[in-house]
Amino acid sequence: MRGRAGFDKLSNVTQLDDGARTDAAAAPAASFVLNGTPVAVYRKHPHLLAALREELDVTSPKDGCSPSGQCGCCTVLIDGKAVVSCQQSLAKTAGRTVTTLEGVPEAERTSFANAFAACGGLQCGFCIPGIVMRAKAQIDKKGADLQPEDMARHLGAHLCRCTGYVKILEAIDAVAKGKQFEPQLASTVGGAGAKYEAAQLTLGDRDYIDDMRVPGMLHAALHLTAHARAEIVSIDASAALAAPGVIAAFTAADIPGELRVGIIHKDWPAMIPVGGRTSYAGDVLAVVVAETRQQARDAAALVTVEYGVLPPVTDPQAALAADAPVAVWGTNGNVLGISEYSRGDVDAAHEGYRRPLERAARALARAIGPRCDVVLLGSIATGKYVDVLHDIFGQRFCYPVEFIGRGDMSRGGLMLRSAEERRELEYVSIDGRSRRGSRPPRLPKKKRTVRRA
Ligand code: FES
Ligand code: FES
Repeated sequence: MRGRAGFDKLSNVTQLDDGARTDAAAAPAASFVLNGTPVAVYRKHPHLLAALREELDVTSPKDGCSPSGQCGCCTVLIDGKAVVSCQQSLAKTAGRTVTTLEGVPEAERTSFANAFAACGGLQCGFCIPGIVMRAKAQIDKKGADLQPEDMARHLGAHLCRCTGYVKILEAIDAVAKGKQFEPQLASTVGGAGAKYEAAQLTLGDRDYIDDMRVPGMLHAALHLTAHARAEIVSIDASAALAAPGVIAAFTAADIPGELRVGIIHKDWPAMIPVGGRTSYAGDVLAVVVAETRQQARDAAALVTVEYGVLPPVTDPQAALAADAPVAVWGTNGNVLGISEYSRGDVDAAHEGYRRPLERAARALARAIGPRCDVVLLGSIATGKYVDVLHDIFGQRFCYPVEFIGRGDMSRGGLMLRSAEERRELEYVSIDGRSRRGSRPPRLPKKKRTVRRA
């Protein structure tokens, strides 16, 4: 590891306090009103979102794609209008009024939190604070007249990868109409209820990794290869190391142990050393550690690398040719493994399949004695194992009659429902039963266990 005098160990660098930071300029980069309080930012930031999160420590606006402006997670209000803050320059923010969820009145925060929790309007919650700010702007403007169709149009600026938009719209509509909820956590296994920590997630108060701050925390940025396939002739991190706020710069030469990692094969170098060769555009050549994220990123860009550029390997078929260049540096070839399989009829009492099953079933029959029934909780659609088990257990081989025609998920749902209602399923012998019943009716919808005030 190379570092500045006095910072040769990570245990030392984590002792830095804010007073040691050197990048604050005398004059502010921008001043504005944040959540009712005049604030100034001093550091260089690429956009308002970075200033909020990195300098002002306001983390309810999330960073999902900055500076692309595509996901909407970073939405805040500027002079009451919803704006994606990763597309807003500090220059344009100066003198204006910025509102984040931290500055929304408590009663409104509670309404949003309860409505999203009660309506199931979130899963991971990462997109929700931005959506709430967009909804707030619309509700402030239209109140109870806000129509779900209009709100749906405005949600076009937001990407939610896991909830879907129907429940989100329900929650927003409930807030617009002034409905009050008191969401409860589920009290039984499989019971309906509000999601754990739904309120904190809705309000952006539940920290994701990127929101966590510890005293003296440093930031790392990577210098990625400029070429998908190239010999690395030299790496010079001296300019990065001399940059403001930089504590250390690492290259592969600083890794004392095994360079390669991997789950199946250790074939992925953590960094590519001088003398090595890159294999894809994500290969790392250097890591720069600095006091702020922006300093780390700026300094990482100062690392200079000399390459011997080679044509990349991009065609998987061509890569299988005997004379193809090795795609991943340090491996012996381009074949990871060969799997062989053959096709056959598993219902045709294949010995290799049938024998182990028979052995296990006979052992079970001996263990349970002659009077105990055996319940099959799987599918009886095919005979490949049902016939084997039926031959051994005969009339004692049962299944829940309601399972006929249900898929895996709905069988699971039925079992959970029965356990919750303390109701036993009806078991009948498989002997002579149809294996392909008509599709059973869906389980009736359960009422939400939320109390309305
Ligand atoms: S982080 Fe701003 S739109 Fe995605
Ligand atoms: S709740 Fe996960 S992305 Fe929307």
